[in-house]
Amino acid sequence: VNYLDQAAASAPGKIILIGEHFVVHGSYAVAAAINKRAKVTILGAKGKVSSIISGKEKSRLFAQDSSFAAIKAVSRCFFKEFGKPKENITIKIESEIPRGSGLGSSAAISIAASAALSRFYGLELESEKILGVAMDGEKAVHGNPSGIDTATSLKGGMILFKKNVCCKSINLNRSLQFLIVYSGVERTTSRLVSKVARRKNSFPSQFSFLTEASSFASLELVEAISRCDLPYLGALMNLSQAALSWIGASTPKLDFLIEELLRRDDCYGAKLTGAGGGGSVIGLPKPDKVGAVLSTVSKHFELAFLASTPQDGLRWE
Ligand code: PMV
Repeated sequence: VNYLDQAAASAPGKIILIGEHFVVHGSYAVAAAINKRAKVTILGAKGKVSSIISGKEKSRLFAQDSSFAAIKAVSRCFFKEFGKPKENITIKIESEIPRGSGLGSSAAISIAASAALSRFYGLELESEKILGVAMDGEKAVHGNPSGIDTATSLKGGMILFKKNVCCKSINLNRSLQFLIVYSGVERTTSRLVSKVARRKNSFPSQFSFLTEASSFASLELVEAISRCDLPYLGALMNLSQAALSWIGASTPKLDFLIEELLRRDDCYGAKLTGAGGGGSVIGLPKPDKVGAVLSTVSKHFELAFLASTPQDGLRWE
């Protein structure tokens, strides 16, 4: 095999502006890449076994345990398709995206790993193929992912997404700024996705109408963005939060955080982002309140930051 000594790629985390959970059941949704990234580097022939390292954590690449589930699944998928490596490799992960925060950490790692492996082995894979391999990593972590996280991480910018149907970049007439606050509560997406599926079973017709309404609101949100109509964009985020609460994705801590963002009229809208049950909240701050609202939430929460969109997707490093 004609492989390099070293290859690296990075990919961004994401926020979902509208449509999470419902997107698993066929709704449109809108997501944007953020300014926190995961970088994966593949190093050749180091050590006696192939391994994965991230900070102080380490694991054997082919160990059958639950550590580094995304990277292991991506590697298994890659080597199954393109042949097992003859030399040992080390996979190094450097990520700015907190794990279990609802900001798409596993998707970013999976995309970066899929791309870095393909470059290391001298393969010029098309982005669809990189995405396909990365989806194995997402499945290992999430069970039944819609694919919105990996698609956003690969493409960057902002996308309108519908499972197996649509993945379209949204043109932004001007940059938009979102406030992102991590609640500090780590959770697993698959548990939340199963909880929502039980809710769907208990209320099938209400859930199905809400899924349609979520689709409609997602398309409205795209329109609001193209008109730069921030008050309406915020209102659609608030509406989305109400629906997410009803399906059981919110928590008292997230509700408190959202109220903080909406208090004093600082934000046009605020909602949980991603699977909920913990994780993160996003707000759309009024342009003249950005500094004030950031300093207020920073008093209560360790990780609060601004993300302007568009941001790059997959990048070769
Ligand atoms: O919390 P995250 O980053 O794993 O976001 C998951 C988004 C869901 O809609 C809840 C699941 C999915 O696969 O779309």
